[in-house]
Amino acid sequence: AADREPVTPRMPRLKPGDFGGPVPIGAIEALPGLGAAPANYPRAKFWWVMTDEGAKAIYKVCTHLGCIYAWKPDQNKFICPCHGSQYAPNGDYILGPAPRSLDRFVITIEDENGNVLAQTPEDGSPVQIPDNPNAIVRVNTGAKILGEVHG
Ligand code: FES
Repeated sequence: AADREPVTPRMPRLKPGDFGGPVPIGAIEALPGLGAAPANYPRAKFWWVMTDEGAKAIYKVCTHLGCIYAWKPDQNKFICPCHGSQYAPNGDYILGPAPRSLDRFVITIEDENGNVLAQTPEDGSPVQIPDNPNAIVRVNTGAKILGEVHG
């Protein structure tokens, strides 16, 4: 056994920017702000949305049966083509068979030195945007928070 190669543990191989890990999406100043349409990140499977309360990264999969819903700019909401569930721009459930609002990923915002300035709270509410246009935004697509179940 002495001449064997040491066993290296198999780690999942994610390319930077792929779904399943942290995805850097740039500096705050370069991202769509309040009033802009949600920004589509197809490879990392989320929408970046800026709301009055802060930013959200919303998972692109409908909470009903897993279809990919679409942004409808003329109606200012997300609509699922499969069974018609509708969601507000911030991911909140509006109507249809979906059991809950859209799921979101944890957003982390860091300064140039890697200090964390802000992070999505545990309840998945929007993250406050720090007053630093150069701060770097990362969306952790491995950390999903489920949307609220509606009554
Ligand atoms: Fe979206 Fe059914 S999968 S409404």
